[in-house]
Amino acid sequence: MSVIKSNHYNILINEDIAVLKSSIEQLNPTKVFILVDENSKKHCLPYIEEKLKLNFTAIQVPAGEKYKNLQTCSGIWQALVSNQADRNCLLINLGGGVIGDMGGFAASCFMRGVRFIQLPTTLLSQVDASAGGKVGIDFLDYKNMIGAFSNPELVWINTDFLSTLPFREIKSGFAEVIKHALIKSEEYWKKITSAPGNLSLDNWHDIIQQSVHIKNEITRQDPYEKGIRKILNFGHTIGHAIESFYLKTDKRLLHGESVAIGMICEAHLSYQCSLINDAQLKEVSLFIHKIFPIRKNLVNNFDDIYELMKKDKKNFDQKISFSLLNGIGDCSFNHFCNRDAIMKSFAYYENSFN
Ligand SMILES: NC(=O)c1ccc[n+]([C@@H]2O[C@H](COP(=O)([O-])OP(=O)(O)OC[C@H]3O[C@@H](n4cnc5c(N)ncnc54)[C@H](O)[C@@H]3O)[C@@H](O)[C@H]2O)c1
Ligand SMILES: [Zn+2]
Repeated sequence: MSVIKSNHYNILINEDIAVLKSSIEQLNPTKVFILVDENSKKHCLPYIEEKLKLNFTAIQVPAGEKYKNLQTCSGIWQALVSNQADRNCLLINLGGGVIGDMGGFAASCFMRGVRFIQLPTTLLSQVDASAGGKVGIDFLDYKNMIGAFSNPELVWINTDFLSTLPFREIKSGFAEVIKHALIKSEEYWKKITSAPGNLSLDNWHDIIQQSVHIKNEITRQDPYEKGIRKILNFGHTIGHAIESFYLKTDKRLLHGESVAIGMICEAHLSYQCSLINDAQLKEVSLFIHKIFPIRKNLVNNFDDIYELMKKDKKNFDQKISFSLLNGIGDCSFNHFCNRDAIMKSFAYYENSFN
């Protein structure tokens, strides 16, 4: 059990449900709404219903990144209005990063802001998405194009929820764990790379605690991403573009899977900028490759992916900005790489693991 303190809220990991219940009671909301998708409704809502014993209205949206958009958000606002939500209501976001990002965004705009609690139910949202106060939705096929910085009242993490999560989703979440280690802690990197390779940990508590601690320390220092917080975007300039590209196709590529590709490519950019050496590049990319098998033919879509990168929120004056590794456990931001270098990193990704 642990409590991690953020600037304006606490992140509770495997704390008793009574703590959640009393936190809700202290907020004294006029009405409680619980946002779910079909999977969190099936696997997680019954537990919350049984243990919390409180009156609430469930708002259900379809599962998946495809639905993290304005239309779904509008449906959430309609449900709030038709159920007489007022400014003192509370929205509990029970689900993965999609539910947390979209529910947090819906709450932050509704009546100029109502309170929300994050109850993350995927590994990805427990180690990363639920903390840090970034909320938002995708727009015009661009990831997180519309959003806000808005803090929850509380993040309540229960690792038991992970027992029903498909293995592919566990791996996707592990990509963010790899990112945390690479950008901030060589010791954490050694720990995760020496752990059994099958990710079948039945106790995720330590991993979640260390990852949340890393993310929280960074976001506390720079809540609005003026500087150091940008290092959390390692792997994401390319990763988000790939994720956006696949969103428009009928193939499914998860957030963590896209970020894994992004991390290999951006490790190669770090190498091209002489920030890491050949041995470090190999160490990083081989470990990621072990967990995430290579997807061929990305370069065929390079122009589209490159176009998407041009819309990245970190860009400055039309130049594509990257957060790159200075070593294992160290990362710096505001590196600008040209098209040729990015192309080389794609070629490395596709050709180096035969
Ligand atoms: N705000 C941030 O700082 C931040 C950080 C990282 C990622 N993100 C965002 O998070 C999103 C990805 O999050 P995600 O990977 O959790 O995706 P997700 O919310 O789509 O969840 C993945 C899948 O797991 C299902 N699911 C959820 N909980 C379950 C459970 N306990 N058992 C079985 N199935 C369950 C969901 O219905 C969904 O099908 C992306 O949109 C990404 O941009 C945000
Ligand atoms: Zn991410």
